[in-house]
Amino acid sequence: MYSRITGTGSYLPEKVVTNADLEKTVDTTDEWIRARTGIERRHIAADDQCTSDLAVHAARLAMTAAGVQPEDIDLIVVGTTSPDLVFPNVGCLVQERLGIRGCPAFSIEAACSGFIYALTTADRFVVTGQAKCALVIGAETLSRIVDWSDRSTCVIFGDGSGAVVIQPSEEPGIISCHLGADGRYKDLLCTPSGPSKKPTADQPRDPFITMKGNEVFKVAVKTLESIVRKTLAENNMDGSEIDWLIPHQANNRIIQALSKRLKMPIEKVILTVQEQGNTSAASVPLALDVAVRDGRGQRGDLLLLGAFGGGFTWGSVLLRY
Ligand code: COA
Repeated sequence: MYSRITGTGSYLPEKVVTNADLEKTVDTTDEWIRARTGIERRHIAADDQCTSDLAVHAARLAMTAAGVQPEDIDLIVVGTTSPDLVFPNVGCLVQERLGIRGCPAFSIEAACSGFIYALTTADRFVVTGQAKCALVIGAETLSRIVDWSDRSTCVIFGDGSGAVVIQPSEEPGIISCHLGADGRYKDLLCTPSGPSKKPTADQPRDPFITMKGNEVFKVAVKTLESIVRKTLAENNMDGSEIDWLIPHQANNRIIQALSKRLKMPIEKVILTVQEQGNTSAASVPLALDVAVRDGRGQRGDLLLLGAFGGGFTWGSVLLRY
C-alpha cells in the first residue's frame, strides 16, 4: 500500500509588499534584495488573518481538486511554526472551520521543513491503514514574528499556505521519505524567546526571528544537496530521472547553487521565491501547487520535494504525482 497525492491547493494573502515598499522602511535597496535573495515581492497576511485562515483557503482548494468532502477527511496534519495560538493547534482550528468531526488533527513544528515532516507523518498513517484521506497543510504567518526594523531578516520572509490531500493507492504515490535534524545549530536561526523561555538579564525577551544568514546559507546548500543525493541513492535513481525538483524556497542563490552541485538544470526546478519570498513550511506545497496548476507538474511525473529549516531540520519526499 502507498499513499498518493489526489489534490493540491494553495493560498497567498492579498497584500503584497514589494522591495520598493521595504526601501521606504529599512536601509535596503531593491537591487540588494534581488541580488542576494532573488526575492522581488512577498505576500503578507491582513491584520485579521491568522495562520489557520490561510490554511483553510489552501485546504478547501486541495479538497476540491481531490473531489473529497469534509466527511471524507480522517486525518489533518499541519506544518507550521507560526500557529494562531499556543493551543488549540492549527489542525484543530482548520478542522472546526471545515466542519470535519472527530479525526486526529495536529500540528508539527519543524520550521521550514514543517510540510515535509507533516507529509511524511501522514504518509505513515495512510500506508499503515490508519487513515484513508489525509489533509496535509503547510501554513505560516511568519510576518508576525519578523522584526520589521531588521533589514537582515524582514526582506526574506512572506506569508502563505499550501495543502495536499493524500489517499491510499496500490501504485506509488509517495515512494520514499527522509527526515533529519541537528539541534546543535539551534542558535543560527531561531526566536530567542517563546512561551516557556523566560527573559534573563543577558537575554531579554525577543520574540522575533534572528538569523546568522551567512552560516545558515552554507549549511542549507550542503544539507539540501546531501538529502537529495541520499534520496536518489536509496532509490537507485539518477538526478536525470527527476521531472521536477521542488525545493524549499529560501533564497534563489541557495536553489541555484543546489541545481549546479546536483547538475540538475534550473529549468527542472520549480521557483517561486521571486514572487513569494520564504514562506517557511508553506513554500514546498505552494510551489507544488503552482507547478500543478500551471501544467508543469503532470500526472505520472517524478517529483522530488526537499526542505531545510531552523533547528536545523531537513527532509525530502520522492513521489510519483
Ligand atoms: N539590505 C542591504 N544591506 C543588507 C541587508 C539588506 N536587506 N541585510 C544585510 N545587509 C548588509 C549587512 O549588514 C552587511 O553589511 P556589512 O558588510 O557592512 O556588515 C552586508 O549586507 C553583507 O551581509 P551578509 O549577511 O554577509 O550578506 P549575505 O551575502 O550573506 O546575504 C542573506 C544575506 C541573508 C541574504 C544570505 O546570507 C542568506 O540568504 N542566507 C540564508 C538565509 C535563509 O535562507 N534563511 C532561511 C533558511 S530556511
